[in-house]
Amino acid sequence: MSVVALVPAAGRGERLGGSVPKALVPVGGEPLLAYAVRGLHSSGCIDRVVVAAPPSHLDLMVDVLARAGVEAVLVAGGPSRTQSVRLALDAAGADATVVLVHDAARAFTPAEVIRAVVAAVEAGAQAVIPVLPVADTLKRVDPAGVVVDTPNRAELRIAQTPQGFAADVLRRAYAAYPEDSTTDDAGLVERLGVPVSTVPGHPNALKITTPFDLAIAEALLATCGPYVAFSATKGPHVASPGEPR
Ligand code: CTP
Ligand code: MG
Repeated sequence: MSVVALVPAAGRGERLGGSVPKALVPVGGEPLLAYAVRGLHSSGCIDRVVVAAPPSHLDLMVDVLARAGVEAVLVAGGPSRTQSVRLALDAAGADATVVLVHDAARAFTPAEVIRAVVAAVEAGAQAVIPVLPVADTLKRVDPAGVVVDTPNRAELRIAQTPQGFAADVLRRAYAAYPEDSTTDDAGLVERLGVPVSTVPGHPNALKITTPFDLAIAEALLATCGPYVAFSATKGPHVASPGEPR
């Protein structure tokens, strides 16, 4: 009976454009990976963390986490996020009953979001994701860039991590689609026909992808201090479908 968090951290961070894998990029002098793993432990509801590291930087990540004083099992990740999650899932342990998948790139996810995801799975949900309302109008376009239609924004949500699952459900999804590549684990579970519920996400849980996002992360840290990832802030309002905004 364990809650195990899998942290895919084996990406290269090409869009960030740094000289080291993204999880090793420092914010406020400390690598993103340290914030991400510390944030998970700080929620108080995670028994074990498994990090998928770039094979070339596995030893360095072991050192980073040791220096940060946070515990994690490290495994070598794969060439895609899906393969990294699969390898981490293999190392989750037979006692895992709840599995979270949490991007190292969402290093400043508040503990409240992590706790809400775990609580929802422990209350019986098979799959739970944190979501945010969409602020911009979205357009569907064809390959030539011509607008096809305008989805109703009120029905749309931005998906964040950690995504939480009953362990057997996530294992079933990864076994069912061995060849698939996805950036969204809940998407695999949806295809099994398993309902995926939502809890409020948080703007601080942004995925640090570009230099712009990194600047936001530095600003968050400067504004909120070293405990940005653990601050007790209220989640944003999530509009219900049909609610005008
Ligand atoms: N990830 C992973 N293994 C991969 C690719 C990605 O574990 N082969 C992880 C990243 O380390 C990150 C998360 O999946 O924590 C989300 O991926 P993304 O934000 O796309 O990170 P990168 O793949 O590193 O960035 P980019 O796509 O710009 O190269
Ligand atoms: Mg990527």
